[in-house]
Amino acid sequence: MEEGVQKRGELIVVASAKGGVGKTCLSVNLATAFCKKNIRVSLVDGDFQFGDVSLSLDLKSSFTMKDILDEGESIDKPSILSYLNHHESGLKVLAGPDRPEYADLVTPETIENVLNTLLEEHHYVLVDCGVGFHENNLKMLDMADRVLLVTNLEMSTLKNTRLMLETFETLDIRHKVELVLNRSTMESVIKPNDVVGILNSEEPIYLPNDFQTASQSLNIGIPFVMNQAKTDLAKAYYKMAERLYSKREITMFNDKKKSGLFEKLLTKKDVENEEEKVEAAPKKSLLKPFGRRRST
Ligand SMILES: Nc1ncnc2c1ncn2[C@@H]1O[C@H](COP(=O)(O)OP(=O)(O)OP(=O)(O)O)[C@@H](O)[C@H]1O
Ligand SMILES: [Mg+2]
Repeated sequence: MEEGVQKRGELIVVASAKGGVGKTCLSVNLATAFCKKNIRVSLVDGDFQFGDVSLSLDLKSSFTMKDILDEGESIDKPSILSYLNHHESGLKVLAGPDRPEYADLVTPETIENVLNTLLEEHHYVLVDCGVGFHENNLKMLDMADRVLLVTNLEMSTLKNTRLMLETFETLDIRHKVELVLNRSTMESVIKPNDVVGILNSEEPIYLPNDFQTASQSLNIGIPFVMNQAKTDLAKAYYKMAERLYSKREITMFNDKKKSGLFEKLLTKKDVENEEEKVEAAPKKSLLKPFGRRRST
């Protein structure tokens, strides 16, 4: 079928402003929970340097993103699909490259091609995204229908999450974001009720603290929604899956407008530079903190 009239699945990108807050745990368990609905679900390890989605599912991944990269830009849909690894839950997984140095080979164009192909074939495509505003991460965020932004009750995480939300506002993608407060029942001087005020945000999705279940699951490679379904943690995940599923919208490929977040960040910087010249007083650059500069 011609692109432009074809239904596409929903793309959920799991992101965070800080590492180690529970993105992989969430991606793997949410994707597996969706599989219980007998729909087609795929999961992409979008942390191309140190991704551990395969490990978390105990998948001996025969194929990885590197195989797709090796085929070059002319790679076709059957080849992309042939590099997915099959998990017993029904989940199809695109593993990250097995060496960190291959991450540099991944381009926004490859990401777009791979995600569009997966969206043609699956009801849900989830991405476990790396931290930060790397060009590739911006591509995934740009294409996403929904961004699950994971945070916790630590001040440094909340500070960075707030900055990330402000950047999303600038990039006009704030409306796609759902906040997830992971480990919301953990001991902390910051209380779950404080989070809305600190982040100047709406009410997040709350996930309870259960380190034993979460960590054991990641270590043995069995999602807790499969073998620990009676725990409060797994129940919260099923509830979250239900909530997201009920809000699912059928999208067509031509509904997706090209916005180019990376270019937006650059444009923002150009505008600010002009303003700086006029006002003399220097303003904070959006790009500087992310370490990318436009070549002139
Ligand atoms: N709800 C939870 N309760 C308690 N511990 C949790 C919970 N969710 C995740 N964890 C723990 O948090 C740690 C980090 O989880 P995970 O690896 O998923 O984070 P991450 O954001 O993917 O990290 P990275 O940025 O390194 O990829 C793990 O030890 C995991 O067991
Ligand atoms: Mg991770």
